[in-house]
Amino acid sequence: MTDYQLQIPRTEVILKKSEDILEQYGKSLFGKTILVTGVSNESIAGELALRLATADPKLLILTARAESRASPIIAKIKETKPDVAVRFLNLELSDLSSIHKAIDTDLADITKIDHVVFTAGVMACPYSITKDGFEMQFCVNYLANFLLTKLLLPKIQSAGPSSSIIVVASSAVRQGIINFDDIGYSNGSTYDSFTAYCQSNVARVMFAKSLGEKLKDQGIRVYSIDPGSVTTGLQQHMDEDLQKKVASMFKDGFITDVDGRPWQPQQRSTRSEGASTMITGMIDPTISGHNGAYLKQNALADDELHRHVLKEENWTRLWELSEELIQESFSV
Ligand SMILES: NC(=O)c1ccc[n+]([C@@H]2O[C@H](COP(=O)([O-])OP(=O)(O)OC[C@H]3O[C@@H](n4cnc5c(N)ncnc54)[C@H](OP(=O)(O)O)[C@@H]3O)[C@@H](O)[C@H]2O)c1
Repeated sequence: MTDYQLQIPRTEVILKKSEDILEQYGKSLFGKTILVTGVSNESIAGELALRLATADPKLLILTARAESRASPIIAKIKETKPDVAVRFLNLELSDLSSIHKAIDTDLADITKIDHVVFTAGVMACPYSITKDGFEMQFCVNYLANFLLTKLLLPKIQSAGPSSSIIVVASSAVRQGIINFDDIGYSNGSTYDSFTAYCQSNVARVMFAKSLGEKLKDQGIRVYSIDPGSVTTGLQQHMDEDLQKKVASMFKDGFITDVDGRPWQPQQRSTRSEGASTMITGMIDPTISGHNGAYLKQNALADDELHRHVLKEENWTRLWELSEELIQESFSV
């Protein structure tokens, strides 16, 4: 991600590529309908879409906030897998009415979706608020997915057991908490871009935990995942000041998490390696007894979560806060 990561000594692990996971379990994606958010030529979601297409799903619904961002990926799929139907869905995650329109109107004809992968996100952007008045990272990275899940759930339930909802998060979850008393950082006056990114990732992971618990009896798979460190469009706000700030968090190559435990960021991954844990969440049958878990490098990684994230009281508090913010109830 940044230069500071290159300076860290670490044990290199052999990362799995998307192709490896698909070779093992990809048959289960044949004929399925899959929705992926945040598709572009540079994004992990773009790579994920290309890889998923090789498993011959029936339909890929690919979202972006501008069609031109997703069109290179759509063109590649049409060229290489002409039998896979691809549909573009315009989705601006910083606007709750756009989310409603996309799902309630543009997707009204789709009654069943087997897998949903929420990968769209933004990291450490300068302070801004959404059309509805929310801090940008909290909304785009988390709250939009809360609303999307509410609106998409009937279609996912129609797909039945073994369908999935994958919430892409980040190892930044280890550095953050939900600032429940001031979720918007006093209208920006106490805003720190990296702290807000961490908060939004805590929200993503906690949301997957609550949702996984609520949906486990229906057999709907829910996981949050850390794709690892991948060079993409995400680093666009990582300027020199922010790099220095992140570098200052390291001591002897380690960062200390919220509970005071030292940890090391992962080695750099390719996009295919980044997308592979998303596919693990979607279809690896060996983890199905752990609904709601946080995954990293294709494996369960709840042991990396700190106490604030694991506290069930906080999951409920976040759920209730989210309902209040979107001004809609969401009972599962
Ligand atoms: N890359 C990493 O090292 C890394 C590490 C940990 C976690 N992650 C997570 O992985 C996910 C994917 O990131 P990436 O690395 O693929 O980054 P990326 O290349 O920047 O992709 C993010 C996508 O999200 C879209 N997006 C941003 N704001 C949006 C909005 N308001 N409405 C709709 N779409 C919006 C972007 O659209 P535009 O193209 O229009 O900007 C882009 O297509 C993120 O959620 C990130 O938090 C990434």
